Amino acid sequence: MKKIRGFIKGIGHHVPNNVVTNNDLSMHMDTSDEWISSRSGIKERRFVNGGESTSDLAIPAVENALSDAGISKEDIDFIVFSTAHPDHYIPGSGCILQDKMSFPNIGALDIRAQCAGFVYGLSVADQYIRSGEYNNILLVCSEVQSTLMEMNDRGRNVSVLFGDGAAAAVISSTDEDKGIMSSHIYSDGKHYKKLWAEAPATSVNPRIDSDMINRGAQYLSMDGKEVFKHAVKRFPEVINKALDHNGLSVDDIDLLIPHQANQRISDMVARSMKLDKDKMVSNIHKFGNTTSASIPIALSEAKASGKVKDGDIIVCAAFGSGFLYGSNLIRW
Ligand code: ACO
Repeated sequence: MKKIRGFIKGIGHHVPNNVVTNNDLSMHMDTSDEWISSRSGIKERRFVNGGESTSDLAIPAVENALSDAGISKEDIDFIVFSTAHPDHYIPGSGCILQDKMSFPNIGALDIRAQCAGFVYGLSVADQYIRSGEYNNILLVCSEVQSTLMEMNDRGRNVSVLFGDGAAAAVISSTDEDKGIMSSHIYSDGKHYKKLWAEAPATSVNPRIDSDMINRGAQYLSMDGKEVFKHAVKRFPEVINKALDHNGLSVDDIDLLIPHQANQRISDMVARSMKLDKDKMVSNIHKFGNTTSASIPIALSEAKASGKVKDGDIIVCAAFGSGFLYGSNLIRW
């Protein structure tokens, strides 16, 4: 019997039209284009205009993915919605998107895997397809992060790195020798406070109090040096896991799509793995770090520009808050 697995039938993305340059940020905090671009590679990012939520941002991305796949929303069996920034605390953004786009009453599952959300989400979708439960799964990654950034000197080590963006993929079943060949997902939870937003918190009643607000506990905080140290170790580790599992070597990679965390991290990973830099997709200069949306935005752009060809070996690799990390190896 032929093996069934998931493959990416269609992919699309959407970013807000509001471009925020490094110089724009320097109006709000003591920073500079030189500081930001030399340490992260970021020149600009997109921020939503006020009033736009995570599910709103996802809608055009979903429309683009459905159109790329050539199927309609009635063909979708299940929604997996990845975000670190749900529209509301309750319920998940998957249900909200379902309502806004009038999807039928299919299941909608939110996953919270931060920067590793696409890698985790692809693994979840692929497993449902391999089990025979579903044939067409919509994986959505959408992140409105600008409202979690502290736009002043106290928050400048974090707020200059992140941007808003969304992407979606239709994962369908195939019995051909292509698709998601493997996923490896991990977590090292002891580092959860190194990149986190403390509030709101269930241990506090009400879940955010004035002390938290004064401390800025509602904003994202990060120990940048620790994140860097772990990221440059975990990226090569999970890429090698994917290659070993499939009996492949670095030279077999046609495209490496790392989570767009920081250009310095990606450059170190490429150098340490002796990967030709032309094979690594990078768009962080335009969008900053868009958390779980960063890999599918980069993949969507690569596909649209003709960089992705049938039979290509594509490795997606991610590392982020948690620390969660992982990889998928795709034969296109
Ligand atoms: N502009 C100007 N100066 C700044 C800024 C800023 N935006 N932010 C911090 N500084 C200052 C600090 O206050 C400090 O000043 P001081 O020496 O007077 O105390 C100085 O710059 C150096 O600060 P460090 O935090 O030591 O800066 P570092 O060289 O470590 O660079 C950075 C910080 C870029 C965050 C780095 O640690 C890094 O790249 N870490 C990886 C984190 C990352 O990429 N995260 C992405 C999100 S996580 C993920 O997606 C995996």
